[in-house]
Amino acid sequence: MTFVDLDGAAAEIDVTVVAEPWRDQGVGTGLKAASVLALIEDGVEPCRTGGSADNHAIRRANHVIGFLIDEQWVTLAPPDQV
Ligand SMILES: CC(C)(COP(=O)(O)OP(=O)(O)OC[C@H]1O[C@@H](n2cnc3c(N)ncnc32)[C@H](O)[C@@H]1OP(=O)(O)O)[C@@H](O)C(=O)NCCC(=O)NCCS
Repeated sequence: MTFVDLDGAAAEIDVTVVAEPWRDQGVGTGLKAASVLALIEDGVEPCRTGGSADNHAIRRANHVIGFLIDEQWVTLAPPDQV
């Protein structure tokens, strides 16, 4: 499943999840791509999404679909980790 948050004409794809037995078979990429195509057909723009640095699968899917990285989050580290 994939959840899309619509805000006016813009969309934020919040979360995409594939049941474990079906992972790594192209389902996540295909699902997210189909969702993006449907949004574009409906005139939704821009389509934004995220993907944490340690989540290779969603970052690969985003890349294959055509998302470009335009910003990154930062976290304030505790003093003992600086
Ligand atoms: C992220 C997720 C949706 C991807 O769905 P999927 O159907 O497994 O993904 P795909 O089969 O389309 O694979 C996409 C790419 O990731 C790679 N990949 C898949 N599972 C992987 C894994 N466990 N580790 C590393 N790479 C993986 C695939 O090989 C493919 O790479 P390629 O384009 O180089 O061939 C799925 O792993 C999932 O539900 N994860 C838990 C929820 C989550 O983290 N969602 C994303 C954050 S919102």
